[in-house]
Amino acid sequence: MIDAEILKRQLKSTLEKTNFDFGKAKKYFGKVRDNYILNDRRIMVTTDRISAFDVVLTTLPFKGQVLNQMSQFWFEKTKHIANNAVIDIPDPNVTVARNCKPIMVEFVVRGYITGVTTTSIWYNYERGAREFCGHKLPEGLRKDQKLTRPLLTPSTKAEKGLHDESVSRAEVIRKGLLTAEEFDKIAEVSMKLFELGQKIAAKQGIILVDTKYEFGYDENGKVTLIDEVHTPDSSRFWFSDSYEELFKTGKEQMKIDKEYVRKWLADRGFVGEGPVPKIPDDVRVEAARRYIEAYELVTGQKFRAVAGNPTERIRQNLIKKGYLRG
Ligand SMILES: Nc1ncnc2c1ncn2[C@@H]1O[C@H](COP(=O)(O)OP(=O)(O)OP(=O)(O)O)[C@@H](O)[C@H]1O
Ligand SMILES: [Mg+2]
Repeated sequence: MIDAEILKRQLKSTLEKTNFDFGKAKKYFGKVRDNYILNDRRIMVTTDRISAFDVVLTTLPFKGQVLNQMSQFWFEKTKHIANNAVIDIPDPNVTVARNCKPIMVEFVVRGYITGVTTTSIWYNYERGAREFCGHKLPEGLRKDQKLTRPLLTPSTKAEKGLHDESVSRAEVIRKGLLTAEEFDKIAEVSMKLFELGQKIAAKQGIILVDTKYEFGYDENGKVTLIDEVHTPDSSRFWFSDSYEELFKTGKEQMKIDKEYVRKWLADRGFVGEGPVPKIPDDVRVEAARRYIEAYELVTGQKFRAVAGNPTERIRQNLIKKGYLRG
């Protein structure tokens, strides 16, 4: 596992934002990725920004590298299930992808009932909801309980600044976001991706609790997996060996995902509205450590942190691979 000193030192050199000159590229700066769209390609720089409750909070050392390389791992592992958009990974923080027309529905799959955000299944269940995204839920479920089978709980992809909303299959179709045939085909792919994700994670002693997939249409109209796959931003990960005991005694699960930061904020009264509490460096270091731990445990590979100034390194790599003019 990475040395805490390396993480502390990198606090000063995190990748907060980029501003590369790709000529006529259209820029889209999301909460986490800086996107440069050039014709049929999208150059995605995964920064070290962390967002929670749809608000960008701070940066975490090496978070961008973790996310980009973890997605790379999963895109490779899942390409027999879903056609994906990846073309090239010219730098640890950068993916060049086919630019797809995004489908405005996020395919969320949940194996357990948990979560603290308003779109999460436990949040709603705790407040009395016994139906979620069209699924009937039995009485007596407890927080973090395993669902009898994984549930698909789609959410709409909100415009920038607005919050996503959980929806049922029927609502997706009624809103005209997808036809029933399209929905069912993508739902089937999502369930297969989740099943494989859980299987690979389980071999590593990790539970893939839930996750979110995004899809788009490629230049030939083919449904394509985009964005990121099975990262600590898009998924929850718990430890298998401590799960039962913690669940039985009603304790918090050991988390290696974004929930650590969400919980830290929620404990201080922040759930998306009002001023964001300032996140101290020790919390940033601990969160970074968990992201790296997730990478190593889930992929079974050692994380090779590339320390130093990421902006210059990325620029040089983009020039070397011919994406950027020197
Ligand atoms: N291959 C692709 N083709 C088209 N769009 C993509 C592709 N891969 C990712 N995207 C989109 O690019 C954006 C990635 O940036 P980022 O992850 O920072 O956004 P976000 O904060 O999750 O979302 P938002 O757009 O709401 O800010 C997302 O909107 C994602 O849907
Ligand atoms: Mg995103």
